[in-house]
Amino acid sequence: MTRGGSGFITPQPTSGSWLPEAGPQHPYAGDAGPPPASLSGHSGSAQSGPDRCTAVRRAWHRRSIAPTVARVTPTHQRSQATSSAVHLSINDEPHIWDLDHRTSLLDALRDHLGLTGTKKGCDHGQCGACTVLLDGRRANSCLLLAVAVQGREITTIEGIAGTDGALHPLQSAFLDRDAYQCGYCTPGQICSAIGVLDEAARGWPSAVTPAELAAEGGPVVLDPAEVRERMAGNLCRCGAYANIVPAVLDVAGGAPDVEQTSAVGDQG
Ligand code: FES
Ligand code: FES
Repeated sequence: MTRGGSGFITPQPTSGSWLPEAGPQHPYAGDAGPPPASLSGHSGSAQSGPDRCTAVRRAWHRRSIAPTVARVTPTHQRSQATSSAVHLSINDEPHIWDLDHRTSLLDALRDHLGLTGTKKGCDHGQCGACTVLLDGRRANSCLLLAVAVQGREITTIEGIAGTDGALHPLQSAFLDRDAYQCGYCTPGQICSAIGVLDEAARGWPSAVTPAELAAEGGPVVLDPAEVRERMAGNLCRCGAYANIVPAVLDVAGGAPDVEQTSAVGDQG
């Protein structure tokens, strides 16, 4: 880049589709031919000195650049598409939207389908409020472009209950344990916990899984430390961790007793 006298930054044409499609990129290449001998100061012409050098250089430069500029693809001929039909499967239902390519999955869910159970907290992948399941694995929907997850199965908090309306065991556990206060983080917590249970069942270790157990590759038994580690990406501004961890453990089969619950909360 160069900075002009006005202070504007002027990008140099080093890459990108706005470059010429073809043509000499180097002044010594292509149909411009080699530089005239006069540029090297060995011309036999009677005209000499700085004036002649400048004139010859300008003429040669015009001859070099003109055909190149002519081959730049006109703007109106380039693809201007910034949106397209996006096919998504949400909670086992197919949907097709005409979406701007920059639309995040989170915004698509909330603004286009009206599934507002998935929350927007930070919109930067730091709080976990937007957690959904993507092909069964938890993911931050604020970090995904809707157009990039076509053909994937997406499950939101609205889709985890049974078809008969029965609550998912984790939903029941959160209710039983009073594992929320304002509830804003709860959909993300529950979706994330579903992912945690699946990851543990598959034997995927966490940072606190003992090395010998991780080496065995069998299902990981979830304890409070495992749940806290694996749920660390889901923040709760209300500090309901004291009951979130036991709620997850209720479903995992390792619920602590009352005394342990207090200890978990202290460490939340
Ligand atoms: S809103 Fe996606 S991680 Fe916070
Ligand atoms: S219950 Fe309020 S943010 Fe978690």
